[in-house]
Amino acid sequence: MSKAIGILTGGGDCPGLNAVIRGVTKSAINRYGYKVYGFYDSFLGMVERRYEALDENKVSGIISLGGTILGSTNKADPFNLPLEGGICKDCSGMCMELYHELGLDALICVGGDGTLTIAGKMSELGANVVGVPKTIDNDLYETDTTFGFDSALTTAVEAIDKLRTTADAHHRVIVVEVMGRNAGWLALEAGIAGGVAAILIPEIPYDIEMVAEAIMRRNRSGKRFSIVVVAEGAVPRGGGQVYQEDKGLTPENEHHLGGVGDVVAHEIEALTGADTRVAVLGHLQRGGSPSARDRVLSTQFATNAVRLCAEGNFNQMVALRGVDIVSVPIVNVMGKQRKIPLDSDLLISADAVGTCLGNRL
Ligand code: F6P
Repeated sequence: MSKAIGILTGGGDCPGLNAVIRGVTKSAINRYGYKVYGFYDSFLGMVERRYEALDENKVSGIISLGGTILGSTNKADPFNLPLEGGICKDCSGMCMELYHELGLDALICVGGDGTLTIAGKMSELGANVVGVPKTIDNDLYETDTTFGFDSALTTAVEAIDKLRTTADAHHRVIVVEVMGRNAGWLALEAGIAGGVAAILIPEIPYDIEMVAEAIMRRNRSGKRFSIVVVAEGAVPRGGGQVYQEDKGLTPENEHHLGGVGDVVAHEIEALTGADTRVAVLGHLQRGGSPSARDRVLSTQFATNAVRLCAEGNFNQMVALRGVDIVSVPIVNVMGKQRKIPLDSDLLISADAVGTCLGNRL
C-alpha cells in the first residue's frame, strides 16, 4: 500500500507557512515516496472533506509567499466545532474517518499552542501526528524560536525606524503597539532593535510615571522625541489587560487583546505634556514575505517533520535548540504559553543600554 501523509495549517497565519508546505511536500515525495494531502482551513478541511493531493508543481515557487495556500482559521477545533446558532459539536470522529480513508500514516500539524493542543488530542484518538511550531508571538515551549517570529520582528523594526524619523521631525512621542498575546518577545526584541526609549511587556507590569520620567529625562538631555513600544498584552501595575470588547472571546476563550497603546499614549501626554501619537502595527506583522531566516527555519522544520514521520517517531513537535533541530513530545507544549523569564539576558541588555522597561527589573 502506498504511504501517505497529510498537512494542515492552523491558527493565526504568519510568514513561512508556505515554506513549510513546500518543504514537507517536496521532501515527502522526493525522499520517501509519500503521497501528500493538504487539508484546507486547518481541521475544518478534514471535517468538511476539503483537501487536495499536493505535488511538486503545486508548491513550486511558494517559498517566498506570505499567508498559506491551504488557508487557516482559529475556529476549527474539531472537538468543539462552532455551528450555527452558537452550538458546538464534537466532529473529531469525522477527521479520524477521513484520516483512515485516505490511508494516512501521519498528519503534520503546523500551528501554535491551540493547533498543537488539538493535534495532541487527535493523537489520543489514534492519529499519528507531528507538530511544527508556528507563531509570530514566539511563545511556544520547548523550542528556542518559532518560524514567523523573525519576519514579524523585521516588519516591526522597519515600522519603528520609520516612525522614529517623523517623531524626531515633530518632537513627538509615538507609542507603537505590537502583537504577541500574553508574551512580550516581539515587543522586547523590536524595541531593542529599534533602540527605543521604553518597552512595556506583559511580564513586567508597568508604572506609567516611570515611563513619563524616562521621556522627560530624554527631553532634558536634548532628545526631543521618544518611541515607546507596547506589547498588546502589557498591563499597568495593579491593573489588567486592555481588550477589544466588541470582539467577544476567541475560540480558546481568551479576550481579543488591543487598545493598550491608546491608554498608554493618553497617560504619557497627560503626564509629560508631549504631543503624542499611536501606531498600532496589527496584522501588518503577520503579512508579507517571510524573512530569509524564516524560510531556512521553515524548510528545516518541514524536512525534519517528514523525517520523523518516516522514522515512525510520532506525537512529537520539531524544535530548534541552538543550531540543531530536535524533536520533543507534543504533550510538553499543549496548552502552554512561554513568557520571557525575568532573568533573560534580553531584559538585562535592554536595561543596560538605558531602555525604560516600565518598572525595576
Ligand atoms: O497569535 C498570533 C496573533 O497574531 C497574536 O499576536 C494576536 O493577539 C492574535 O493572533 C490576533 O488574532 P486574530 O487573527 O484573531 O486577529
